[in-house]
Amino acid sequence: SLLMASKGTHALSLKIIAECSTTKARTCKMKLPHYVVDTPVFMPVGTQGTLKGLLPQQLEELDCKIMLGNTYHLGHRYICIGKSWRSTQDSGGFQMVSLLKLAEITEEGVKFESPHDRSEMMLTPEKSIEIQNSIGADIIMQLDDVVHSCVTGPRVEEAMYRTIRWLDRCIAAHKRPHDQCIFPIVQGGLYPDLRKKCAEELIKRDVPGFAIGGLSGGEEKSQFWKMVTISTDILPKEKPRYLMGVGFAIDLVVCVALGCDMFDCVYPTRTAKDIYAKDFRPIDENCKCSTCQQYTRAYLHTVVQTETVACQLVTVHNVAYQLDLMRSIQQSIVEDRFPEFIRRFFNKQFPNKD
Ligand code: GUN
Ligand code: ZN
Repeated sequence: SLLMASKGTHALSLKIIAECSTTKARTCKMKLPHYVVDTPVFMPVGTQGTLKGLLPQQLEELDCKIMLGNTYHLGHRYICIGKSWRSTQDSGGFQMVSLLKLAEITEEGVKFESPHDRSEMMLTPEKSIEIQNSIGADIIMQLDDVVHSCVTGPRVEEAMYRTIRWLDRCIAAHKRPHDQCIFPIVQGGLYPDLRKKCAEELIKRDVPGFAIGGLSGGEEKSQFWKMVTISTDILPKEKPRYLMGVGFAIDLVVCVALGCDMFDCVYPTRTAKDIYAKDFRPIDENCKCSTCQQYTRAYLHTVVQTETVACQLVTVHNVAYQLDLMRSIQQSIVEDRFPEFIRRFFNKQFPNKD
């Protein structure tokens, strides 16, 4: 078919370094136009080219090589967020639906009302790609039709098929395939047949990697894992699999076992952990990050109420924790002891449970 006609080379190559012998986990070197990333990788969510409140220097310190930027389109001007290199760019529609709550979705695109002057705006697949092409991130995302994971009925099927149609419009509009990788997104809610159908359609397209979307919206864990499994069973081993919006430590460990390579989540930059006023330990005694080396929980508690500094400090810790976790996972896969890593991890997270 036309879709499969030109199997070109992509601006991304994935080299599998080691595979777990009992799960679908693997560790890879993912070569992007501007960086080589070791996977599995966690991508913190950045704004304006850095993580919330962090100085570029603090980012360097964390050794964070890849992060997620968002595409916003407000008030007829673009607020383009994201650094042109070492980042992944989300398509914008998801943020509109999830944050603005003003979205109406039509076949043309995501329509919404300006929060400023109530004028109507439309983000089409073509416009989303145009914005992402102009920002220039290494990985860009198709515009997808996202429904909350708790929605049931015909709307889920409509959104899945529309996501495929929008993918083809995004691919046609993409002007920089030589140096920007476009990822389609598997949708289909919690319906196994729809997920399967969607993944099977997407793999017919010649794209450099795939994302799994529409999950982690509060659905049952068993359903969440099932949808991830169905998707990774179909998506090709040779290409990276990016599970969108997933980033709690437990979910990272499980979904690596299910074959996912990339993750993002706003949680470590948005949530300041529970900190206690009279707790003079660092957040984490085992952590080597600059926050844990220098500050007690009590100190952070006193500054957290007034100072954005505390937010930065806690963000440094949270992101350092996530990145460390991923490095430990990578190492355990290389040494083929990932199942043991999972056992220990769960024992630590859930002490006194069988
Ligand atoms: N972030 C988390 N989930 C999703 C999704 O399904 N689509 C997009 N575009 N971004 C996401
Ligand atoms: Zn720390």
